[in-house]
Amino acid sequence: MRHIVLIGFMGSGKSTLASLLSPRLNLPIFSTDQTIEADFQMPIVQIFEIFGEQVFRQKENEVFSKIKTLQNPYLIDCGGGFGAYQNVNDLGTVVFLDIEINEIYKRLNTQEKAKRPLANKNLTQLFTSRYQIYSQKADVVLKNFESLEEIIKTLNKGGFSAPLLP
Ligand code: S3P
Repeated sequence: MRHIVLIGFMGSGKSTLASLLSPRLNLPIFSTDQTIEADFQMPIVQIFEIFGEQVFRQKENEVFSKIKTLQNPYLIDCGGGFGAYQNVNDLGTVVFLDIEINEIYKRLNTQEKAKRPLANKNLTQLFTSRYQIYSQKADVVLKNFESLEEIIKTLNKGGFSAPLLP
């Protein structure tokens, strides 16, 4: 199944972009983080606290398998680690939201950091190592885009065919 797979660092805007693209492309959203939170019936930060990161990553493996069974195309909103560690290229067109570390620091305010257990670790180091991985996996890179239509044109160039607005 050819899904649209949004990958990128924490705070890069994957969920925001998913909610903008979903009605425009007529694709439902599948959020890996929300799926895991629903399964555990608790927020991610608590999953990390109680069970640890390894259990969370194991759950991400299960979510990957679940996505493989989907019969219709989705807009897959990947958690930051899911996009890095899972074989997302197997799922469809991989779209990397490439934003600069300075911007990430601005976006991850106290409230946003509180939801992300890894955001209080060495963010710059994690960003640098992840950046390589995301870049290698990307079929399409979105950087400094200005409008949704511009994004759709870029997706089309990357091999996904979405209708353009008249
Ligand atoms: C993580 C990113 C988070 C979430 C978890 C781990 C990561 O998702 O999956 O806290 O390893 O980068 P977002 O990218 O939506 O913040």
